[in-house]
Amino acid sequence: MDNLKPYVQQHKDRFINELIEILKIPSISADSAFNQDVIDMAEAVKNALEKAGCDSVEICETPGYPIVYGEKIIDKNLPTVLVYGHYDVQPPDPLNLWDSPPFEPVIKKTDIHPEGAIFARGACDDKGQMYMHVKALEYMTSSNNLPCNVKFMIEGEEEVGSESLAWFVKQNQDKLANDVILISDTGMISNQQPSITTGLRGLSYVEVEVTGANRDLHSGLYGGAVANPINVLSKMIASLHDENNHITIPGFYDKVEELSIEERAEMAKAPFSLEQYKKELDIDAVYGEKGYTTNERNSIRPTLDVNGIWGGYTGEGAKTVIASKAFAKISMRLVPHQNWEEITELFKNHFESIAPEGVRVSVKPHHGGQGYVTPIDSIGYKAAAKAYKDSFGTAPIPQRSGGSIPIVALFEQELKSKTILMGFGLDTDAIHSPNEHFGVFNYLKGIETIPLFYKYYVELKS
Ligand code: BES
Ligand code: MN
Ligand code: MN
Repeated sequence: MDNLKPYVQQHKDRFINELIEILKIPSISADSAFNQDVIDMAEAVKNALEKAGCDSVEICETPGYPIVYGEKIIDKNLPTVLVYGHYDVQPPDPLNLWDSPPFEPVIKKTDIHPEGAIFARGACDDKGQMYMHVKALEYMTSSNNLPCNVKFMIEGEEEVGSESLAWFVKQNQDKLANDVILISDTGMISNQQPSITTGLRGLSYVEVEVTGANRDLHSGLYGGAVANPINVLSKMIASLHDENNHITIPGFYDKVEELSIEERAEMAKAPFSLEQYKKELDIDAVYGEKGYTTNERNSIRPTLDVNGIWGGYTGEGAKTVIASKAFAKISMRLVPHQNWEEITELFKNHFESIAPEGVRVSVKPHHGGQGYVTPIDSIGYKAAAKAYKDSFGTAPIPQRSGGSIPIVALFEQELKSKTILMGFGLDTDAIHSPNEHFGVFNYLKGIETIPLFYKYYVELKS
């Protein structure tokens, strides 16, 4: 693969321009107003896979958005890599906080990305990272360097829970048979210190509703005499953490895996500057569960966070009113062994039980999923580590992430294979936030690292 670096250098402008084209498509799965754009995006992925050398590419219809499936089978006796990614993106709002429109990509330099970064919704999560695999395939097929079989499965509902993908995977076990699953939809420590994600957190997402009187009330005539659902909801939410920031739901921690002192010491070796972390977020202190470091809090510990809260009057000026209803959306990030359905049930029972007299409370579960941990002694992990070492010149560190890709646990259950999470994003790339971006360096490094994974995987496997 001596011609790999030169190939990427020679074609880099085209690689960047092709990514920019697909970033212009607002494939927002959560918002039905963008239905046609999501479908157009599936078509764009299909075309890209065909051009990159897949033998057959299909748009597989599902009850929701289609799954783009493509493959190149060179020899049934060789290993098969299944690449997964997603072509849908998060809604871009709040729009006014973007420095340039989310679907009009621009390249700008930043302190962390002196070579420039592409700013657009989906640049890092996950169009940019997914497209690295398409371009890596292009290199391998056009230069006769594809050492094994490859299958691509790119979905359009990851940001809304992957329901259709779960359905698709369950009925296509043979079609999707593989030796290892490869995903770039996570991050790494920094461009100087690559890392490979060895764990993902699980998720339970719920919506709660607190109802007081049967109508909105004058806050002078009724205030102080009937329950105010917003006051009550605030109190209930506040009670979900104690003074040490432990979650108070009975049974919540029962199955949480406690890491050994040795494992925690190993984790603490990863380079991390608390000062830089605070500076980057413009905060004067970090916050969280007592007894754990920042990196532990955001990876090996479960959490409970309000994602949105609303009710009452929020328009201009003042309106004196006691709303009839108050709402909140709450997510719980879970760690391995916590069962997301069980946690959802524990939450529901607890939240309903703490409702005071005078209000009615309902809890509506949304989506969820299991966490994931992957061993570092597998062939897949070793191949990925060698690939990063070659392309970055520095050996990668294994690191658990705080994010979730619930479908990974389902892949293991249904397809019986392990997933290797080769992410190239950075935490500062602002995924799900305004001004999401993906470093040009990261994009091109990804394209350079992926073919090395294939090479080492096949070598180590045989
Ligand atoms: N790519 C992210 C997950 C991620 C990002 C994992 C960075 C690790 C590091 C994915 O698209 C995502 O946003 N997942 C959702 C869960 C999903 C069920 C909506 C998440 O983590 O909030
Ligand atoms: Mn993603
Ligand atoms: Mn995402």
